Amino acid sequence: MHHFIPFLSIFSFFRTVIAPVAPSKIYGVNLGSWLLLEPWMLPNEWVAMGGQVCDHCSDCIASEFAFAEAYPDTVDEKFSVHWSTWFNQSDVDVLKSAQINTVRIPLGFWIVEALVDRNTEHYPRGGMSYLSYGLKMLRDAGIRAILDHHALPGVQTPNQMFAGKCTSDVQFYTEYNYGRALIWTSVMTALSHLHPNFESVFAIQAANEPIMDANQTPGYGDFQKNFVRTVRATELLLGISVPGYPSFQGTTNNTDMKLRLAAVSAADNSGLFQRDSAIVEALTEAIPILLVIEEELGFLNFGACQERESLTTNFMDILWQYNDPANPAEAAIGPQTYDHHLYYSFGGVADANEDAYMRNICHRNDIQRDTASGNTPLWYGEWALSTQFDATNEFLRNWADAQKLAYSQDAGWLFWNFKIERNSTYARQWSYLEGLERGYLTWDPSQVHDSNVCAPYMDSSSTTKNSTSTHGNSLPLKSLRRSGPPRHKGPKRQLFY
Ligand SMILES: *[C@@H]1O[C@H](CO)[C@@H](O)[C@H](O)[C@H]1NC(C)=O
Ligand SMILES: *[C@@H]1O[C@H](CO)[C@@H](O)[C@H](O)[C@H]1NC(C)=O
Ligand SMILES: *[C@@H]1O[C@H](CO)[C@@H](O)[C@H](O)[C@H]1NC(C)=O
Ligand SMILES: *[C@@H]1O[C@H](CO)[C@@H](O)[C@H](O)[C@H]1NC(C)=O
Repeated sequence: MHHFIPFLSIFSFFRTVIAPVAPSKIYGVNLGSWLLLEPWMLPNEWVAMGGQVCDHCSDCIASEFAFAEAYPDTVDEKFSVHWSTWFNQSDVDVLKSAQINTVRIPLGFWIVEALVDRNTEHYPRGGMSYLSYGLKMLRDAGIRAILDHHALPGVQTPNQMFAGKCTSDVQFYTEYNYGRALIWTSVMTALSHLHPNFESVFAIQAANEPIMDANQTPGYGDFQKNFVRTVRATELLLGISVPGYPSFQGTTNNTDMKLRLAAVSAADNSGLFQRDSAIVEALTEAIPILLVIEEELGFLNFGACQERESLTTNFMDILWQYNDPANPAEAAIGPQTYDHHLYYSFGGVADANEDAYMRNICHRNDIQRDTASGNTPLWYGEWALSTQFDATNEFLRNWADAQKLAYSQDAGWLFWNFKIERNSTYARQWSYLEGLERGYLTWDPSQVHDSNVCAPYMDSSSTTKNSTSTHGNSLPLKSLRRSGPPRHKGPKRQLFY
């Protein structure tokens, strides 16, 4: 897969630089299970690869980690086949024809291979080239990208396929692993500004779905601040201006980044490059890693990046956590956005029937509540058509309409997922492409079948009567999704409010 890279780089040099800004309204999908594979979404392919299916994903080969541990000699080759087939040019063509303008790309920390401790951690190698090539296809189609740090070093949430390793041993909330996440952040920031294939990247998400109980995520508020500082310090190092910070004279290149970092640190009055800080440490570690990646991907365009604008930093919204969480808005330097995830199918949002779902979605106030905490612009970065009951085709059309109307009121939405393996039982309600084919979703994502779909549910009496049981309980019980049929093992919803 490497042969295309040098050619790409040369031609890309002549392209005009795309400013890293979000579309005015995001109509998007997640590229889930591509570079971070969740077996529940493609059970047949997973088993054909050598994976297993079991009730509790920690009990069998049901995560990338378990697979890499079981097949150390063939894991890279097997995943390279997956990476080049699960998402390819045909998918990009369909997404473009469906007027999808943005994708969110879930990534594991191990895509930056130098961060993996190979004595204790097992993950496939080689994903970065596929990310680069996929981003090129997206860029050429005019589709913007959000790089989502979806599976964090040390594992950020227990017993989830999406965390890369299914385990109850959660170690992300430690200095060591926060540090590794910051190195990842600096590398991805630099690549986004320097590599022509990454031109469509406009945002980096700090951490997907940390544990909801803020008492179990010590240091996460400091991490949020350090994440933003790392992005901005990396940009200043590259010569990109950052709102509110003085720029440093001169530029850098692949031979003098370390010297430049020393010079910038010495000249800094802002505190951003404080000696021995987590930020300076992250940049110091990131530089040699970046240069190794340059050898693999080719050509980093140091000469052009000074004209680029700051990337958007992105966090799960403050509503994601309970027990007095840190407010990510306090971390902002320059453009920043927030991400709300909402699934009805795990329980705790509305009663398990059509009427309750519709009444709830037609009276959401997540955007208002997030805005009150400064968490705006907000996008709904994950949602689906999934339900706790057998849904009719007619209901799913209404359900799609009502969710789109609710979720497009601020920055927009991204569906989970762009596809699900064809035969899987989940495809009907979790696959955007299948939802289009079945007619639940409109080919123009800004449209709905019925813009008055909420009208029957707007009468105030029943709204008021039912509001205490449905409003406010806006957080999804994600713990259940990835392990197959819902099982209630997450925290009780009532705890949150
Ligand atoms: C993309 O993958 C699908 C399914 O594996 C395949 O049918 C299609 O031909 C591929 N498209 C390209 C352009 O390779
Ligand atoms: C790299 O930058 C330094 C100083 O900014 C400069 O002296 C040097 O010539 C540059 N090297 C290359 C290969 O451009
Ligand atoms: C609201 O309450 C009425 C009467 O108790 C009930 O029939 C209806 O299903 C409820 N709707 C929701 C959304 O829970
Ligand atoms: C899909 O299901 C059909 C019928 O059950 C089966 O013949 C086919 O092999 C399945 N495809 C995959 C990819 O599993």
